[in-house]
Amino acid sequence: MKVDDTAYRTIWVPEDGWSVVIIDQTRLPHEFAQVGLRTVEDAARAIEIMQVRGAPLIGATAAYGMALAMHEDPGDSSLAAALQRLGRTRPTAVNLRWALEEMRRVLEPLGENARTAAAYARAAALCDEDVAINRQIGEHGLAVIRAAAAGKPDGQVNVLTHCNAGWLATVDWGTATSPIYQAHDAGMNIHVWVDETRPRNQGASLTAWELGRHGVPHTVIADNVGGHLMQHGKVDLCITGTDRTTARGDVANKIGTYLKALAAFDNDVPFYVALPSPTIDWTIEDGVASIPIEERSAEEVSHMTGRTESGTIETVSIVPEGSACANFAFDVTPARLVTGLITERGIAAASREGLAGLFPERADG
Ligand code: MRU
Repeated sequence: MKVDDTAYRTIWVPEDGWSVVIIDQTRLPHEFAQVGLRTVEDAARAIEIMQVRGAPLIGATAAYGMALAMHEDPGDSSLAAALQRLGRTRPTAVNLRWALEEMRRVLEPLGENARTAAAYARAAALCDEDVAINRQIGEHGLAVIRAAAAGKPDGQVNVLTHCNAGWLATVDWGTATSPIYQAHDAGMNIHVWVDETRPRNQGASLTAWELGRHGVPHTVIADNVGGHLMQHGKVDLCITGTDRTTARGDVANKIGTYLKALAAFDNDVPFYVALPSPTIDWTIEDGVASIPIEERSAEEVSHMTGRTESGTIETVSIVPEGSACANFAFDVTPARLVTGLITERGIAAASREGLAGLFPERADG
């Protein structure tokens, strides 16, 4: 998508032909900075400290991390070590496992001389696939937004989203935001309620930033506001992303998504989840029982970072000294609360039958 009239992706290989450039998301919204990755360790650290984040982009960065590892040393032990190092960066987004499996499948059978070129080629293709998939998700989701607009006298559609499932979380377009961008670009009257998404504020700092740069009208709200807005008819539909969706349609996403789904259910507000098929974990059914939930540093809860009036970036404590803090980064929304899953092949019911109907070849395997 565009930043100040220039089109960007979130990850690319620069002119040197081998290093990898990412947008440093820890510095947004106050600074649009890019960072070069030169080793597999750089890529792993970028995922761990969330310079890159969002399920599809974590997968894409891991794929390029494998390419960097092969550039350094294409031998068998380097391949195995890189798969292991990248595999333990973040536990919840299944796209990481999917991308690494894909790289293993391509690289393991090859001789050392062929591995580096093949790794870069597969990582680039994986990124292109992500962009194409997200564009298709947008086309299917646009139909839902058009239907919502048709029922409104002023045609304005108010969409609530949580966290950042925007282009910054993918290679381009985003998942939840792809229908929003397409509706906006088609001239529709669309407005987005952006949950701030404590503790890391991906909504306030990333979603608001990217919507603003693209010119999409939006309002940032505190995380607890959504239920009130829904009770007062101010939300026409919710669209979120997901880090892992089970074979029966349970959805893991950023902490707080479940509470939004409960409020939507109670107020008859449609609750859609947008996802590329690599986010489906066909090996599990019950998301609450089976999806590993990342626990992050307590400091993300006890402290907040922002820009002061003088322009410096500062971090301040917001809890009493000595209070314990817990930081569960994701929750699971059961399929029964999900109106539909917007995928690249169309919209599926959140059920085994719904997903298997769209992806029969994967559901059987
Ligand atoms: O911890 P994060 O910022 O990686 O969490 C991201 C989310 O929860 C997104 O909603 C999800 O990855 C979908 S991204 C298209």
